[in-house]
Amino acid sequence: MSAPTVPATTLPALPHWEQTPADLTSAIREIKGALRARITASGRTVEEVFGVVEERVRAAVEDIEAARERGETVWPEIDYADIANGTVPAEQLALLRRRGCLVVRGHFPRQQALGWDADIVDYVESNRFFDDYRGPGDDFFGSVGSKPEIYPIYWSPAQMQARQSERMAAVQAFLNGQWKHASDGVQWFDPSRDSLYPDRIRRRPEGADSGGLGTHLDPGTLDLWMTEAYQKAFRHLFDGAVEQYDPWDAAHRTAGPQYPGSTMCSAFRTFQGWTALSDMDHDQGVLHTVAIPEAMAYLMLRPLLSDVPDDDMCGVTVNQVFPAGDRWHPLLMRALSGIPDVRAGDSVWWHCDMIHSVAPVRNQQGWGNVMYIPAAPWCPRNESYAARVREAFLTGSSPSDFPEEHYERAWPNRFRPEDLNETGRRGLGLD
Ligand SMILES: [Fe+2]
Repeated sequence: MSAPTVPATTLPALPHWEQTPADLTSAIREIKGALRARITASGRTVEEVFGVVEERVRAAVEDIEAARERGETVWPEIDYADIANGTVPAEQLALLRRRGCLVVRGHFPRQQALGWDADIVDYVESNRFFDDYRGPGDDFFGSVGSKPEIYPIYWSPAQMQARQSERMAAVQAFLNGQWKHASDGVQWFDPSRDSLYPDRIRRRPEGADSGGLGTHLDPGTLDLWMTEAYQKAFRHLFDGAVEQYDPWDAAHRTAGPQYPGSTMCSAFRTFQGWTALSDMDHDQGVLHTVAIPEAMAYLMLRPLLSDVPDDDMCGVTVNQVFPAGDRWHPLLMRALSGIPDVRAGDSVWWHCDMIHSVAPVRNQQGWGNVMYIPAAPWCPRNESYAARVREAFLTGSSPSDFPEEHYERAWPNRFRPEDLNETGRRGLGLD
């Protein structure tokens, strides 16, 4: 394995597109050629660089397969009390960083979570939501299969109470703290302040049949290769120093643009997450991840190999989620691992760049209810989105990252501004 011998500053510059290119095919050809040329100019071949990543990822895949054979759960589990008290054992912390995902046990008392679930039912029924419901408002999941049962509801008291709770803030700060958030004299984000990213609810009833959701990832699409900020964030993949790529480094990730579209997430999230509002067994159509944060390097470099057509990014395009799968990433798919059984009040988290899916289920036993609440720390990108979130909150509108459904505007019992606590006010940028 050779070390980089050419300083990155002398490598050929990359073309970049700060808005969606008008001609996607020619932009893909151009960026692929430029990325290959840059890697070659560093003194290494694309195949060699990819080989380094593949070896690192293969070791992680085999570690996961071995854990599974020993009957261990692949997902690390940490008790909320240990996070709150700062007593998370070192080996659990190491496993969290290795696997990039986590179940927080007892994040909320079970009765509180079940109470929130009942409150959400009351909230939507009291406002005749099911009479008014007009069907799914987007085709976000068009590229990966059928839809889970999503309520486009954002402003229930239950959701806001969870978002602004002390327990949520403690877990988000813990998770944000796994990232390198300052470097080169820049604080890329504030790990102790969350931006309260409003998302939806899923309630999947007993007896449901669901096709699940195919393996995909959420951080972006072609912009991951084509904007200047992401090119800097992933710089080590393309400058011959691939060994230095760190999936926990937030540098250059918290201010850049994203291509608009139905896949858009305006916020920077360190972890995606949800809080369970019902007990769910591991075989009832639950979340899976490829529990390897470094797999992002594999996904980013794979399209540069010679077996992929010059105008193809392994199927990634704008306005559809980033697909991952057996065609281009069979090694990664071996590590796809489901969550263990969870109980209402547990929460589930996964690194924002990780591949994930929802397994299909037939005749589901028990409910499958979750509130989506990620960790989205305060940073320039999230501060700018917070202005739009404030407006949506005050008017009961759907936030601008989501379809314009606006069911809650006239609902009298949504969460009120006077019920915000300090965390809520800080998260919305009101203080
Ligand atoms: Fe997703």
